Amino acid sequence: MQAKRLCLSEHKVFIESRVQMHMTVNVSISAVGLKKSYGPINAVAGIDFEVRSGEVFSLLGPNGAGKTTTIEMLEGLRKPDAGSINVAGFDPWKDASRMRRKVGIIPQGFNFIPRITPGEAISYFSTLFGVTDRSGELLELVNLKEMERTQFKDLSGGQKQKLGLCLAMVNNPDLLFLDEPTTGLDPQARRNMWDVIRKLKAEGKTILLTTHYLEEAEVLSDRVGIVDHGKMVACGTPDDIIKQHGSGKILHVSGNETVARKVNGATGLHCTVDGKNIAVEITSNSDVAQILDIVRESGVELRTLQLSEETLEEVFLKIVGRMEDIS
Ligand SMILES: Nc1ncnc2c1ncn2[C@@H]1O[C@H](COP(=O)(O)OP(=O)(O)OP(=O)(O)O)[C@@H](O)[C@H]1O
Ligand SMILES: [Mg+2]
Repeated sequence: MQAKRLCLSEHKVFIESRVQMHMTVNVSISAVGLKKSYGPINAVAGIDFEVRSGEVFSLLGPNGAGKTTTIEMLEGLRKPDAGSINVAGFDPWKDASRMRRKVGIIPQGFNFIPRITPGEAISYFSTLFGVTDRSGELLELVNLKEMERTQFKDLSGGQKQKLGLCLAMVNNPDLLFLDEPTTGLDPQARRNMWDVIRKLKAEGKTILLTTHYLEEAEVLSDRVGIVDHGKMVACGTPDDIIKQHGSGKILHVSGNETVARKVNGATGLHCTVDGKNIAVEITSNSDVAQILDIVRESGVELRTLQLSEETLEEVFLKIVGRMEDIS
């Protein structure tokens, strides 16, 4: 029997039914074939991804990669040129007002009315949403209670971001969009924000965030998506991405040019000289014994012996660097 070819409208129904099916399983956000241009700039050039319910998913990418444009389409703030989106069961563009009742948003570079206090801001948002004012509870959640009566303009950067998170939480959403929630915060304030994000995840919230801090993405996220030139160039758990795109484990051991050449000749492994050590990209733990034998036979004193793996940041730079070479 010949396979039936789908016409365009059937294809659309097929994709929509798949999106719908995913939503009934445990997917909170699904984007298929997402595109957005600003005149000649292809900000988002065909992105597919999904965020599962209850996970922290981080969108990573260099400046101008298309992260905010993607998030704004998911939030129903920008109309996609092409593609389908399902957020918490809604099409964000067609059903923006119903969807926004289910989600919370911190936009990139969050700012607010200068003379309003956190307590007043939360009460104001609660009135807009028609929900009970939980300002005490929310300020407590983010450790901002003592600033309840301080005007927005007098809050520190970190305190402003925390208020942003409170406002995003006013309607007790299941899903949060946080666009660079920790940018500009000092290390202590950033870690406070991580604690809050972890608390929200523990409550079962789904969180889509963007960040330029790769270490943050690595410790907070269940999965990450690396966006570059409007495309998703890698997606998975940080470990998966490191395994797929990294150089595996690296053995740092005392050595020199001669040892490096011998190791390379005997094992075929990539080997570089790094000061008084050599760095060998090993493929299995059994390589270690063979390399140590070569070092010993060469009469080099064993002062260094260390096994390391690339970080998400190193792998990210490799992937994005490769994309720069292609474009
Ligand atoms: N309103 C707009 N009008 C025209 N071009 C825009 C607009 N918003 C974004 N762009 C362009 O679209 C591209 C993607 O921008 P976007 O803000 O989505 O990137 P981003 O990944 O969030 O970057 P960053 O990490 O700097 O926040 C960039 O080239 C940007 O200049
Ligand atoms: Mg952005």
